[in-house]
Amino acid sequence: MGVFSHHLSAAERYADLLANDGVVRGLIGPREVPRLWERHLVNCALVGRAIPDGVTVCDLGSGAGLPGLVLALNRPDLEVTVVEPLLRRTTFLEEAVEALGLDNVEVLRARAEEVHGHREFDVVTSRAVAPLARLLEWSMPLVRLGGELVAMKGSSAADEVAAASKSLRKYGGKDVRVEEYGAELVERPTTVVRVRAGLPSRLSFGEDKPDAGKGRGSRTKRRDQR
Ligand SMILES: C[S@@+](CC[C@H](N)C(=O)[O-])C[C@H]1O[C@@H](n2cnc3c(N)ncnc32)[C@H](O)[C@@H]1O
Repeated sequence: MGVFSHHLSAAERYADLLANDGVVRGLIGPREVPRLWERHLVNCALVGRAIPDGVTVCDLGSGAGLPGLVLALNRPDLEVTVVEPLLRRTTFLEEAVEALGLDNVEVLRARAEEVHGHREFDVVTSRAVAPLARLLEWSMPLVRLGGELVAMKGSSAADEVAAASKSLRKYGGKDVRVEEYGAELVERPTTVVRVRAGLPSRLSFGEDKPDAGKGRGSRTKRRDQR
């Protein structure tokens, strides 16, 4: 698949992990295995088209690493923090990061709201986590001023934008766009909602605390610890 170019072998190893451990541990349904590439890996990699070079990315509700680990393995220029509250999933994420030798990923066991005021990112991504209005509530306090929320959505994207108008105003959302990537590559292109942050992140209001962003004590990986 052209979208991975020279990172194809890392993507293949991750696909193997999802198809084996991911299924055994109930993180991926067995029926997803035959369509792992088109529906999951390629779809997630295409989100990279919305992300500038060398920025920090937070993937909220990453589950088994979608899109966070796909972005990290395909874009070594990014620093990716995957945020996920469930231990079973963060354990898989940590093992996958180790197995794939990714040194640009931090695994944070936490709910989005627990990270507010502790961390800020250039871009906050998500897939299949919540309707847009709730996603704005969870994501925008983590996006630095001028950064972006990039939410993977399906055909409901435009309707969700319309339904979220109040939240968009509340969280200072600007330049709201629905974009589609990969129509030339896959049957179902990736649809994303992009929202620029017109307000500073919660971190800018001085709400940082000593235990900032440590989640619930699971092991975290940071670049400077490796
Ligand atoms: C349907 S799964 C999607 C997982 C992955 N993004 C994917 O596309 O396969 C939703 C994920 O959001 C996580 N989640 C639920 N509430 C959350 C919250 N408040 N903050 C962060 N993640 C949350 C769940 O634990 C779950 O892993």
